[in-house]
Amino acid sequence: MTKITPISNSKTLPKDCVRIAWHEGEESKYIEQQDGSTTLSIAAGKYKDVNVRTFRTLCRAIVRTAKTHKIDRLVVEIEHPFPQLETHDATWIVGTMAENFLLANYTYTAYKKDKHDIKEILISGVQSAEAKKALDRAVVIATEVNKCRDLANTPGSIMTPSLLAEHAKQMVKGTGARVTVFDKKRIEKERMGALLGVGRGAKHGPRFIILEYYGASKKEAPIVFVGKGITFDSGGLNVKVGGAMLDMHLDMSGGAAVIGAVVLAAKLKLKKNIIGLVPATENAISDDSLHPGDVLVGRSGKTIDVLDTDAEGRLVLSDALTYAQIYSPRLVVDVATLTGASLVALGEHCSALMTKDDAVRETFMKLGEESGDYLWPLPLWDEYKQYIKGRFGDVANIPASGYKWGGAINGGMFLSHFAEGYPDGCKWAHIDMAPRMTSVASDKLAKGATGEPIRLLTLIAERY
Ligand code: BES
Ligand code: MN
Ligand code: ZN
Repeated sequence: MTKITPISNSKTLPKDCVRIAWHEGEESKYIEQQDGSTTLSIAAGKYKDVNVRTFRTLCRAIVRTAKTHKIDRLVVEIEHPFPQLETHDATWIVGTMAENFLLANYTYTAYKKDKHDIKEILISGVQSAEAKKALDRAVVIATEVNKCRDLANTPGSIMTPSLLAEHAKQMVKGTGARVTVFDKKRIEKERMGALLGVGRGAKHGPRFIILEYYGASKKEAPIVFVGKGITFDSGGLNVKVGGAMLDMHLDMSGGAAVIGAVVLAAKLKLKKNIIGLVPATENAISDDSLHPGDVLVGRSGKTIDVLDTDAEGRLVLSDALTYAQIYSPRLVVDVATLTGASLVALGEHCSALMTKDDAVRETFMKLGEESGDYLWPLPLWDEYKQYIKGRFGDVANIPASGYKWGGAINGGMFLSHFAEGYPDGCKWAHIDMAPRMTSVASDKLAKGATGEPIRLLTLIAERY
């Protein structure tokens, strides 16, 4: 484990400690000084162009570069030459540094022999108790995000629904949160026909994972987070072709994020009631798999035309969104790697946000910017309703007759049929995080799961 240590100044340092410096330019430099000490100077482009977003990736670049040089111990000063960050105080700098150092330090090493890890990162110039608190908070958050990246990165044959549930139980230990797991029998009793339908072809049974954290009076209406927990998405009988199936063990990233967010709400002792619901199953292929043309009856009682077994995420989410009713929530947010179409629409640098509420959209966009888990909106207008009308059922899981436009929105519109029956004033938002399921090079994160949007959900839990 890499330690992050705040120090007030860096006048005396251990011999093996590498100093981090900045310079304008494109290439980082490793400099051996005449006194035997070493400096790693990080290329920051033009100082005047560095903003909050680029500062995050620059913090990550420090760690990534240090790792390639197999550095064990390094020291970073909180003083910086970036004029755009002048309005941000030391507390923000320290928190942002610590969080991004740890996120960049993570790699999925379960199957690697070579596990070089930075031993310690010293952040120098930390004076106030407030800055120290920001550091502690960042460490708690980033550590949890990295744990969830481990859950997501674990191969699909290993990370079964029951193992995911076990991890949720482990992760809440010692916190004020509680985990309840429904097995297949209980899921049947709860009439979650859509979740059961998707799970039908899999050898490993489905689980419905419930996390409850009551940080306020139980009378206070909670926030419910719902996360897609498809432990592997083969597509089902509408099997994925070409390379499309690779990385589909990450199709439970939304579920992992929801688990992480509830655990964090508990660890940060938020004075809120936060519930997490994760419908978990594999979307497998067998003679008993869900068939295209099947009609499912989920918990809501609405009938669902399954026109494509690969649109399974919205099916399992529909039952969880209905189940959320029993909590009489004031806000419901679902998070899912739902559509490839969201990548077509937005590229790979933000998740798609869909909500019918203008105020929620505005708040979430701001919190996205603040957390580093960026969002961009797509509409959920009535105009789009026509495309998912059922043939024989009430609603279809994809548009009929090959209509191929607006796939991310169609997913959101489908879910909107099930995000109902909540108390008056309860808001709902859908986050299609497929664009952020895996990292891209410019993120300066390890290959694989990003751990998004846990930081965002944590801010939503705290502020909404
Ligand atoms: N899990 C996939 C979506 C996905 C694709 C996530 C690529 C991340 C990267 C989802 O279950 C799926 O298969 N969606 C289909 C929907 C289609 C059948 C309407 C898709 O996007 O092709
Ligand atoms: Mn699918
Ligand atoms: Zn899927």
